[in-house]
Amino acid sequence: MTYAKVEIAPSILAANFARLGEEVRTVEEAGADVIHVDVMDGHFVPNISIGIPVVASLRKATRLPLDVHLMIEHPEAYIEGFIRAGADRVLVHQEATVHLDRALAMIREHGAQAGAAINPATPVAMLAEVLDKVDTVLVMSVNPGFGGQKFIPAAYEKIRQLNQLRARYNAGFRIEVDGGVDLENTASLAQAGANTFVAGTSIFHTSDPAAATRELRKLASAAFSQKV
Ligand code: DX5
Ligand code: ZN
Repeated sequence: MTYAKVEIAPSILAANFARLGEEVRTVEEAGADVIHVDVMDGHFVPNISIGIPVVASLRKATRLPLDVHLMIEHPEAYIEGFIRAGADRVLVHQEATVHLDRALAMIREHGAQAGAAINPATPVAMLAEVLDKVDTVLVMSVNPGFGGQKFIPAAYEKIRQLNQLRARYNAGFRIEVDGGVDLENTASLAQAGANTFVAGTSIFHTSDPAAATRELRKLASAAFSQKV
């Protein structure tokens, strides 16, 4: 099974929304692999961000895959709309639906890659029955809702567990880590088995987002290839 490629996924939550196209172009030219789009509804998380029209506009502004992280209640009601707008991957939270299996199936039926996300308080075991139905598992390393929060180190153990399960079942899902990812922790997260790195603050709140993207990529690739 090949899942060795690392991906850097800049989170636009930390970008300047008034210059979104430009911000995305900067990281795309610097070698970003995916654009991470955080959708918040003010219910599942205590913040409101963006929705379907912004995904549709982003679709016209970049060739990169759009990784749409739904931090919303009733995700099933919006899956089709986000995919029609241009989402290539849709991530739903285990905690946000009692029908996770159905939500994941809907994502694939509508032609996108399916991801399951877990909050810091949710154990990996909650995903045991869907690991063969996901393209990505997203480990939240902060409590979702805001950019710029402090990384919660318990994420390492979850990533290791997922990495072991992935090897044991020869599964191909990606392990994505989101929240507080930066130049300090990226290499060790890659060594634990993460291969998609979401980074908002550590890319867009620097003086040189392109250089930050390249640096994160270098660190992640070096650590991941050492490990494989
Ligand atoms: C948090 C979001 C993250 C956030 C990460 O709820 O899911 O994607 O934008 O931002 P940083 O990298 O600043 O922690
Ligand atoms: Zn996110």
